Amino acid sequence: MARILIAGCGYLGCELARRLAGEGHTVFGLRREVPDLDAGFEWIAGDLGQPDALAAALPGEIDFAVHAAAPRLAAGASAEDVTRGVYLDGLSNLLRALTRSGSQPRRVFFVSSTSVYGQKRGEWVDEASPTHPTRKTGEILLLAEKLLAAADVPGSSLRLGGLYGPGRTRLIENVRSGRASIPAGDPHYTNRIHRDDAARAIAHLIALDAPAPLYLGVDCEPAAEEAVFGWLAQRLEVAPPTRARRDESATPRRAGSKRCRNALLLESGFTFEYPSFREGYAALLDEA
Ligand SMILES: NC(=O)c1ccc[n+]([C@@H]2O[C@H](COP(=O)([O-])OP(=O)(O)OC[C@H]3O[C@@H](n4cnc5c(N)ncnc54)[C@H](OP(=O)(O)O)[C@@H]3O)[C@@H](O)[C@H]2O)c1
Repeated sequence: MARILIAGCGYLGCELARRLAGEGHTVFGLRREVPDLDAGFEWIAGDLGQPDALAAALPGEIDFAVHAAAPRLAAGASAEDVTRGVYLDGLSNLLRALTRSGSQPRRVFFVSSTSVYGQKRGEWVDEASPTHPTRKTGEILLLAEKLLAAADVPGSSLRLGGLYGPGRTRLIENVRSGRASIPAGDPHYTNRIHRDDAARAIAHLIALDAPAPLYLGVDCEPAAEEAVFGWLAQRLEVAPPTRARRDESATPRRAGSKRCRNALLLESGFTFEYPSFREGYAALLDEA
């Protein structure tokens, strides 16, 4: 059994921490504001932006660390600074704090995002595809991945698609309320992964002897928004969302359109509980 640190223990991190603790590992969940609840693992109050205090807060020898922190934007703060502080400086601080606190982790995992890709025309992408992010967050995530790849400690990055699951049901609510609209023009492809599969994938990679340095963490079916909305509308028994006109100024701005391939994750032996949006959203609708 291993001692595992989840740095940034939020929506995904808590699910991962619970699962790993359930497997018998000793798990530490780090965040700035520690909830007052017994989650089945040990909470640590710590800030990835405060290197000295972070090193002092770490609980000695750590076998695996997972950086799963996400920026919490505050009024008045620069979004770019906060994002850089959590992903890039935060990862760098974490690596140094681990060394300073006497740990030589077997591997550090960085939870990245498919926003590192700039493809816009529904191209298929995998771990070897070019990365030309169109937004600052993607640029910063890419720098953090490179930082980990160049670090002394073995590292793996996992580029997740959009996370959904219990409590993250915005898409369902948008379709139910009629707020969802299909973008004008060519199909807009989206990539997602259910929170539980994302947590299971990280636990699976931790258990591997020699994981690859980079994986795409998406389910098995990149899907056009139209297909997802249509399926949800049918399940919810509401009218399907309409297609926005090309000239419609209210058309929401969409990030890049690409189809992410998860072949490497599957080849590593991982199996999905929710291989597509259908199984994932069906489970959420059934629970509701
Ligand atoms: N959500 C998505 O659709 C999506 C898509 C692709 C990739 N990802 C990636 O998946 C990971 C997990 O996302 P999530 O949705 O689980 O995020 P989340 O629920 O917002 O959790 C992030 C956690 O990070 C902690 N945190 C933020 N700043 C911190 C700091 N300076 N020091 C220590 N902890 C800090 C937060 O707690 P405190 O504020 O209490 O510190 C929170 O518990 C992130 O890396 C995210 O970029 C998410």
